Amino acid sequence: MACTCGCSNNTIDPKQQALQELLQKFKGYKGAIIPVLQGAQDIYGYLPKEVMQQISKDLRVPFSKIYGVSTFYAQFHLKPRGRNIVRVCQGTACHVRGGKKIFEAVEKVLGISEGGTTEDLRFTLETVACLGACGLAPVLMINDDTHGRLVPGDIQGILEQYE
Ligand code: FES
Repeated sequence: MACTCGCSNNTIDPKQQALQELLQKFKGYKGAIIPVLQGAQDIYGYLPKEVMQQISKDLRVPFSKIYGVSTFYAQFHLKPRGRNIVRVCQGTACHVRGGKKIFEAVEKVLGISEGGTTEDLRFTLETVACLGACGLAPVLMINDDTHGRLVPGDIQGILEQYE
């Protein structure tokens, strides 16, 4: 799509285009901050600073408020996330069945620690308090897939299934 700002650029970044449409949809709408941040995160995978600045400008809301909301809610991420989210359970049932060793095995294979993302943006590693599958402890989830009754030796093979 051609750029309409008068510059010589004939193309517009599709993400930027989607963001502009999102902002247009919510302009002047009270309570727009959270749905706009959610929409922007869906577009970019996280909330880059420049995107939050644009939201602030377009919604006419101080940047400090946009930043405050995005850091208050756990659903928002200010750093790039991996294509695959690995959530290793550290709840009680998993803990007593070796959940810590599973977590350490994932850390070792991926070379990142909790909250980290691999450089190739393939994986982000997180811990959770319970995945609701205690009968399968120890458990981890990758995206929507549950992997249970794990031993550390399983981890490499499981992670290799995810591009
Ligand atoms: S404690 Fe791990 S799934 Fe419940």
